[in-house]
Amino acid sequence: MHSSPKLTALQVMQDAPVIPVIVLNDVAHAVPMARALVAGGIRMLEVTLRTPQALACIEAIAREVPEAVVGAGTVRTKADAQAASMAGARFAVSPGYTPAVGQACRDVGLALLPGVATGSEIMMAQEDGFTELKFFPAMQAGGPAMLKAWSGPFFDVLFCPTGGVTLHNAPDFLALPNVVCVGGSWLVPADALAQGDWARITQLACDTQDFKRKLAVAPVLYASVAI
Ligand code: 3PG
Repeated sequence: MHSSPKLTALQVMQDAPVIPVIVLNDVAHAVPMARALVAGGIRMLEVTLRTPQALACIEAIAREVPEAVVGAGTVRTKADAQAASMAGARFAVSPGYTPAVGQACRDVGLALLPGVATGSEIMMAQEDGFTELKFFPAMQAGGPAMLKAWSGPFFDVLFCPTGGVTLHNAPDFLALPNVVCVGGSWLVPADALAQGDWARITQLACDTQDFKRKLAVAPVLYASVAI
């Protein structure tokens, strides 16, 4: 297990406007891909537990790219949370919420962004003390209009919409007061990985830095987090 300072979910969300959702099939891609994103200004990296190589990729990034903060995505079970932590992940993202996953992440010291798509799920996550949530799948489940509707009853919850978010619609989400960042897979395209086109990944990350400038975000957002 790692010995770096413990992060909060809010710190994970505030570090950059976009959290890349990454699918890696080859451990050799992990380190250059992470360095490419860091070079483009993105250091909170969600490596999804969707491939047999995912944990080894997390391990490699944690070991060799100290400028990055690697997290595990697609965390669905207690075993996922434990394995992610052992591999060096410092945060977890889940596609849904269960109290078991919430407790497992707490037990191993992983900041968790639990996924929600309904009011009842938000209430369950809140009951367990989670107030920074992933809205998933964001476009399919209602998009920015859904978040606007939730801002009334769930005025004390902050969201990271993920799923169907693109460079083009991200500003619509980021303009909402209850959205701190978005998540998306577009930053790490499968063909760029296959071709080893790290410059393209850096450019895709750089493109998202414009969001910080275009949006008059509160100064508290995107503060530098000590990692
Ligand atoms: C996922 O878990 O697959 C993410 O939500 C990414 O979705 P996207 O590919 O639509 O960005």
